Amino acid sequence: MRLTFPEGFIWGGATSAYQIEGGWNEDGKGPSIWDTFSHLPGKVANHENGDVAIDHYHRYLEDVDLMGSLGLQAYRFSIAWTRILPAGTGKVNPAGLGFYDRLVDALLARNITPYACLFHYDLPQTLQDKGGWLNRETAARFAEYAGIVTGRLSDRVEMWMPHNEPWVTAFVGYGMGTHAPGKKNMLSAMKALHHVLLSHGLAVDSMRAAAKRPIRIGAALNLSPMYPASDDPRDQAAARRFDTLLNRATLDPLLKGMAPQQESKVWNWLAGSFIHPGDLEKINRVDFLGVNYYNRSVARHSRLLPFLGEMVEKVAGSEYSEMWEIYPAGMHSLLTRIWEDYHPTCDILVTENGVPVPDTLEPDGSIHDERRMRYLQDHLVQVKRAMDEGVPIKGYFVWSVFDNFEWEHGYAPRFGLVYVDTKTLRRTVKDSGKWFAGLIRQNGFETA
Ligand code: GCO
Repeated sequence: MRLTFPEGFIWGGATSAYQIEGGWNEDGKGPSIWDTFSHLPGKVANHENGDVAIDHYHRYLEDVDLMGSLGLQAYRFSIAWTRILPAGTGKVNPAGLGFYDRLVDALLARNITPYACLFHYDLPQTLQDKGGWLNRETAARFAEYAGIVTGRLSDRVEMWMPHNEPWVTAFVGYGMGTHAPGKKNMLSAMKALHHVLLSHGLAVDSMRAAAKRPIRIGAALNLSPMYPASDDPRDQAAARRFDTLLNRATLDPLLKGMAPQQESKVWNWLAGSFIHPGDLEKINRVDFLGVNYYNRSVARHSRLLPFLGEMVEKVAGSEYSEMWEIYPAGMHSLLTRIWEDYHPTCDILVTENGVPVPDTLEPDGSIHDERRMRYLQDHLVQVKRAMDEGVPIKGYFVWSVFDNFEWEHGYAPRFGLVYVDTKTLRRTVKDSGKWFAGLIRQNGFETA
């Protein structure tokens, strides 16, 4: 069978600054919390860090050429705040702006539409020293930074995402502590999340004021459909609670202007201490919704934590990648659920989807990543199914264009369409990359 996408459907790839750039202290860049965190012992597998990453900072022209040769129509990248404002606020570093200026020009010269994200976890260390996202002031600093970048690039960049995965910034950075800044306090995570979302809202004002041309401002969210482990009402209640904690925590404020009502009264009361009047109205402004989907989640009742529940680590009988369960139908259920529950008036884009599976560089220089191809195909079938049922999805971005630094896991998980040799940094297009290029040319593919 042939799957054909509507004309104008956008095919892209995504990356983020810290994961690919390297050049961590070059040309005036200041330190970010990921520079600090990854240099601490025991935080990242194999003591790896993003000091060099895949050296995109120096090889961006080669990389943009490669993307051009794959026929990518759009490229989602992030801007390192610490290149633009080394101390997070105050003096602008012209060399930092210059890098993204040249990157955007290089993309446009190859007909690749830039999608710029302003924050992908790399908070300036100087702002962390003042409390980071626990400090409401950080939201105001972010809005200033967003305005500066918009002023410089909006003559050529129309599509903007102030934030990537606010939930991960807050909950993985401040709650679980496996990401920078490595704090472990769930109440802090909730407060941090509100300030990140508030910074989105404040940035909408500063960006619109600074824009040279009309721009569109969205948000890329990590979302995962929540399934109960069984029909047991207690498992179902646990799934509802985790759905609120993970999905509604960002969807409700951004799409409805509502604080997600947790089932715990204490929690709601505490939230009232940092959500100020007027905040939610500001946050509730998105021109497009970016959905990052990798896997579903399964929750069940817990005897130890009966008021919350627990996540099921491994679902018996399911296929797993190096990091997560592979569950293509979850893409469909997530997209249709967003549509049914929120009826967003804005466009929806899949801003990330991809899989880490082991890749082998064959002696003849090829990489036969059959499992990645299958993953992408199976998920695209589900995207199309949601579209056929009326969900207005306008594009799809693969995570990622290149193998890169996968946060606390270092370089072992490979997500790229392009293989990057960790020693030589040589780039080689994988079979999945060739397949994706063909898909773009034909705006569709043959399903198995
Ligand atoms: C994100 C993601 C990426 C990850 C990808 C695979 O925030 O967009 O965390 O940075 O590399 O999701 O885990």
